[in-house]
Amino acid sequence: MRPPGPKGRPLVGNTIEYDQDRMGFLRRARAEYGDVFSFDDRTIVVFEPDLVHELLARTNGDFSSESSPVASRFDAERSAEDARLWMAARRAGWRGLNRASTQAHASRLGALFEQTVEESLGRPVDVLSMMKSFSGRATADFCLGHDAVGIPEVVEENTAALAPLAGSSQLFPEWLPSRKIARFRRAREQTLDSITDRIRRRSAEPAPEGPRDLLDVLLAVPDLTELQVQRLIRGILLAAYGVPAAAMTWTIWTLAVRPDLWDRVASEAATWNGPGIPPIAALPQTEAVVKEVLRLWPPTWLMGRTAMRPTALGEWTLRAEDQVMFSPYLVHRDPRWWPEPNEALPERWLDPTRTPRRHSYLPFGAGPRVCVGTQLGMLQLTLTTFWLARGFRVSAPAAAESRPEFHNLLVPTDFTASFQRAR
Ligand code: HEM
Repeated sequence: MRPPGPKGRPLVGNTIEYDQDRMGFLRRARAEYGDVFSFDDRTIVVFEPDLVHELLARTNGDFSSESSPVASRFDAERSAEDARLWMAARRAGWRGLNRASTQAHASRLGALFEQTVEESLGRPVDVLSMMKSFSGRATADFCLGHDAVGIPEVVEENTAALAPLAGSSQLFPEWLPSRKIARFRRAREQTLDSITDRIRRRSAEPAPEGPRDLLDVLLAVPDLTELQVQRLIRGILLAAYGVPAAAMTWTIWTLAVRPDLWDRVASEAATWNGPGIPPIAALPQTEAVVKEVLRLWPPTWLMGRTAMRPTALGEWTLRAEDQVMFSPYLVHRDPRWWPEPNEALPERWLDPTRTPRRHSYLPFGAGPRVCVGTQLGMLQLTLTTFWLARGFRVSAPAAAESRPEFHNLLVPTDFTASFQRAR
């Protein structure tokens, strides 16, 4: 059985209405058709948390998370093999990362943050660009340590080349003679070549005593191939560029429009007088603000999976290659699961008697392809908020005029701010 849904226009279906106002379209469809609807003949959209969770939990087995902006025939066998190689590298990387290398990264992160803000002090800056510059450097450092020089620029170009393709509702065939596709292919190759170059350089060096970064960890695993290491590093560099930057931008935006929350995190930051970096447990208010920002403004506001074979999800029948989409943004703002869903209320994370309904909070996804950087991302966001509130003041008089933009990522439009050192 297929769910009902808006019929749309001949040939283009619902694409035009959707592209005109993506969130408005999804909200209207949910109001009219309920928790599951058909977007078109091959795509269903689900809003129900248990179904979303089931979809994510069955990823790699029944559903593929692979997505390429340029269309190539979906090949279930190749997709399963890619997932197997990816998962092996992913597991090895995370098993091998130890406290010392994460701690070393966190201390370099503080210096990188200081440097990023320092470069922009005293003049209005586009906060998203500033945060992309920071997260690009931070992730390159986390993956490649002292070999990261030049990598943030390559990742920036790869992401910029990907944006016009990934933001579209249509897939582009790779053979299409288009400037956008040619730029994307060039950028993709440049990223892969740059990573291969770093892998070979590092492999030629004597092995360190302990891992200093992710590349050290991966090179110490005997069964991983160069291709696996290259793909994992590329996956992380791209996944941890725009998304954490958008999350940090939303955090700064929230603190700008809610001075009471700024005061709360600034007071907490001022109480820390230990040496070095505070543990997250010492920053409960800051962590609660970050969690609430990720609930209200999850950068990955729309996600999807492809059925690898004929299957079912709940009572709905799916054919091979059907798509299933869902929006963490809408799950996070559903009044059935979240009282006062549109209000920023960090208190909800501090009251142990108020646990969220299961599967209703997914800023990092769930299941076997849950974000690999969940802990690292929370650490980076909480610490940067701490460093910001402790060391700086932010002035953003027009913040309330920024609007959410639902394209590739959820970001605030035209959000500028000036940063000053706190006295
Ligand atoms: C605020 C910070 C972050 C948020 C909100 C976030 C969110 C997400 C989400 C929602 C997914 C799942 C996408 C899907 O299932 O289709 C994901 C995947 C991923 N994230 Fe993050 N992320 C963050 C930070 C990071 C960081 C710091 C890293 C670096 C280690 C990272 C690396 C990845 C990777 C490699 C994947 C793909 C995992 C896989 O397919 O196995 N993310 N992220």
